[in-house]
Amino acid sequence: MTDPMRLLTVGATGSIGRHVVTRAVREGYAVRALVRDPDRARHFPHEVEVIVGDLTRADTLEAAVADIDAIVFTHGTYGGDPGAARAVDYGGVRNVLAALQGRKVRVALMTTIGVTDRKGVHDWKRRGERLLRVSGLPYTIVRPGWFDYNKSDQRRLVLLQGDRRQSGTPRDGAVARDQIAEVLVRSLRSRAALRKTFELVSETGLEPADVEALFAGLDADPVDALDGVHDARNMPLAAEPQPVQMDLKQEGTAL
Ligand SMILES: NC(=O)c1ccc[n+]([C@@H]2O[C@H](COP(=O)([O-])OP(=O)(O)OC[C@H]3O[C@@H](n4cnc5c(N)ncnc54)[C@H](OP(=O)(O)O)[C@@H]3O)[C@@H](O)[C@H]2O)c1
Repeated sequence: MTDPMRLLTVGATGSIGRHVVTRAVREGYAVRALVRDPDRARHFPHEVEVIVGDLTRADTLEAAVADIDAIVFTHGTYGGDPGAARAVDYGGVRNVLAALQGRKVRVALMTTIGVTDRKGVHDWKRRGERLLRVSGLPYTIVRPGWFDYNKSDQRRLVLLQGDRRQSGTPRDGAVARDQIAEVLVRSLRSRAALRKTFELVSETGLEPADVEALFAGLDADPVDALDGVHDARNMPLAAEPQPVQMDLKQEGTAL
C-alpha cells in the first residue's frame, strides 16, 4: 500500500477529532471530516472537506468513505449509557467498515485505557476494536489515558500493552489531546504501527523526536486475534450477544 493521502476523520468535531483534523492537514493529507452538524466545523481549516453523516445510520456513510485511503476514528459517547455506547462507539465502527464494502484502507481507531475492564460500558468500545482486528484492514488501535490531565512538563509518551491500569481514574495515566492526535495520524504511514494495540500515556519529560521507535518497540496482535496481544482473555466469544457475533462473522476474514 502506498502512503495514505486522503483521510476521513470520524468524530472530527470532538475534542480529539479537532486536533486530528489540524494535524492531518499539517502533514499533507487531503482531509474529509464526517460531521452531523456542519456549523460545528466552521473553524476547520478552509481546505477540509466537510461531509454530513450520522454514525448510527449506515445509509448516510457511503459518500463519506468514497475514494478515501485512510480513516481515523475518534468518535464516542460519554455518560455510561450502554445504548449510546452500542449505537455510536460500536455501531460507528461497524457501519463505517461496512460502508467500505471490502475496500482496503489504513485505519487508526481511538478507544480508551481500561477498555478491557468489564465493569462499565467499555465493552462496546472493545467490540469495535474486535471488529477492526478481524476485518483484515491494516490498523493501529490507540487507547489513551485521561485527556489533558497531564502536567505541562509531562510530554514523554509511554506506550503500554495488556491494559493493566484499570482504576478508572486519572491515576491510570494522562496524555495531552494534541499528542493523542499526533500518534493517531503518525500511525497511518507507519509500518511499525501495523496491527499494534496500545495504551497511550505520558510521563515527565520531553516529547519524543520520533514516535516510530515507540511503535517499533511494541508487539503486534496475532493475525487471528480478537483482542490485543497481551489483553486479558476475559470476554469469551461464545458469551457475546448474538448480533455482535453476527457482525464479527460478517466483517471477519479471520473467523
Ligand atoms: N476524556 C477522557 O479522558 C477520555 C479518555 C479516553 C477515552 N475517552 C473517550 O474518547 C471518546 C471521544 O472523546 P472526545 O472528548 O473527543 O468526545 P467528544 O468531544 O464528545 O466528541 C465525540 C465526537 O463523536 C461525534 N459523534 C457522536 N455521535 C455521533 C453520531 N451519531 N454520528 C456522527 N458523529 C457522532 C461527535 O459529533 P458531534 O460534534 O456532532 O456531537 C464528536 O465529533 C469518548 O467516547 C470518551 O469516552 C475519553
